[in-house]
Amino acid sequence: MKRLFSFHLCIGIILFAGCAEPPAFQFNVVAKKQAEQDQPFSSQQIEDIANVLTAFFGTPDQPAFPNVRSFHFPEGLDYGEAFAEVVDFQDVIRAAGPVRFDESGKTAGLYREHCSHCHGISGDGSGPTAVTLTPYPRDFRNGVFKFKSTIGKARPSNEDLYNIINDGIPGTAMPAFNVAITQSEKKALVDYVKYLSIRGEIEQVLWDITASLEEDQRLPLVFPRDYDELDEEEKDELYGWFEEEGIRIESIFKSWTKASSSPSIKRPTAPPEYFSESHDEHANFLAKGRAIFSGKSGACIQCHGDTGYGDGELGNYDIWNQWAKGKNDKYIAGFVDAGVLPPRTISPRNFRNGGFRGGRNPLNLFYRIKNGIQGSQMPGAATLTDEEVWALVAYVRNIKNETITGGHQQKPIHDKKIN
Ligand code: HEC
Ligand code: HEC
Repeated sequence: MKRLFSFHLCIGIILFAGCAEPPAFQFNVVAKKQAEQDQPFSSQQIEDIANVLTAFFGTPDQPAFPNVRSFHFPEGLDYGEAFAEVVDFQDVIRAAGPVRFDESGKTAGLYREHCSHCHGISGDGSGPTAVTLTPYPRDFRNGVFKFKSTIGKARPSNEDLYNIINDGIPGTAMPAFNVAITQSEKKALVDYVKYLSIRGEIEQVLWDITASLEEDQRLPLVFPRDYDELDEEEKDELYGWFEEEGIRIESIFKSWTKASSSPSIKRPTAPPEYFSESHDEHANFLAKGRAIFSGKSGACIQCHGDTGYGDGELGNYDIWNQWAKGKNDKYIAGFVDAGVLPPRTISPRNFRNGGFRGGRNPLNLFYRIKNGIQGSQMPGAATLTDEEVWALVAYVRNIKNETITGGHQQKPIHDKKIN
């Protein structure tokens, strides 16, 4: 991999340890390749993107927040403030950088100690161990998370991310850090995941915007950083740019603000039948779930199969390789050669081996079924009532106890490599 924009900070270290290059953020190869389909970027444009990202977010060893003054307009959004609303900078510092103790004696460099070997320094889900794992670790740079309480494309709440770090994702390589690290360490890591995610989402927008420029045109964001030093024409250009394109960067901040500031989404409660101790009542409730599962309204069997083995509709791509959807081998090989993990499919969940990745408690399952699993084919059950969703929750939790009649019993299947 090319070292695209590393920060040379070894003057102090050089006397002792020679000059080990500090790790650098890598470009998002998928976003870059997709954006330059029509016309390759000039080296100036690539350098500009690297510079904007470093000015905004710093480096893995020296994180930064977008500079407050430079992009401050009367009607515009103050990026630094917007970022600070969602992410605590002290947390980011504590999670970033090499493993060490900070001034107060607390462990720091948490991300590199616990997460980067899977999720990668850049949060690209391509750490050194990633290639051996199915499913792959999450690529935070898409801003897409699966096991959350928020609806559709909405970002996860702080609590959602905290729970994932605390509980892990059973049946995948994602470990539970409930006892391994303290509460404040987990909170710092939540903020660092958000930092990597926002950085990655903004990088994608920058590639995209650059793709719409002429070859010799530069990102207006690369103007001198002090707004007061610009002449009127430059101010006009920058201002116009923010009205048209900056809006996309703003919307990234806003979507995170929205999710973070509404952590206590009203928790749905299960109807009395769910908890009924009467055998008949409970059996009726399960039968109702079964009817929705296999009937038209739920249509769950289309993917999860009549027997819940997850052997229905197969071969769908997961979030990390949507870029490969419908593409030929040559196109895919181009990405893999550039360092992208080979695409893999994700299977519908097999309910007979008892594993639920986003947690098996009823509330977790309610959110999964009601909201769907973002980034996979699993749709949200938007047309079902809450009571119907609860019946499905009860039913899928119970499927593994159900006897299969009619002989349609197949071996459990697993996510497959497809090349
Ligand atoms: C051994 C590898 C491994 C390590 C170490 C690891 N993860 Fe993960 N992580 C995964 C895998 C694999 C997934 C994806 C599971 C899936 O898609 O079902 C994942 C998913 C996630 C998700 C996405 C959850 C969602 O709802 O989409 C978050 C957030 C996350 N990990 C954070 C962390 C943090 C923070 C650390 C360090 C404290 C960490 N992980 C350490 C493998 C790992
Ligand atoms: C178009 C295919 C499709 C349909 C239709 C579908 N699912 Fe899924 N479902 C999936 C896939 C794929 C996964 C695995 C997603 C992942 O792990 O990223 C999944 C996962 C799940 C999970 C596991 C959640 C967890 O935490 O592990 C549950 C529960 C579930 N589906 C229930 C349902 C129910 C109930 C319905 C019907 C209302 C349904 N699904 C309809 C494809 C589908």
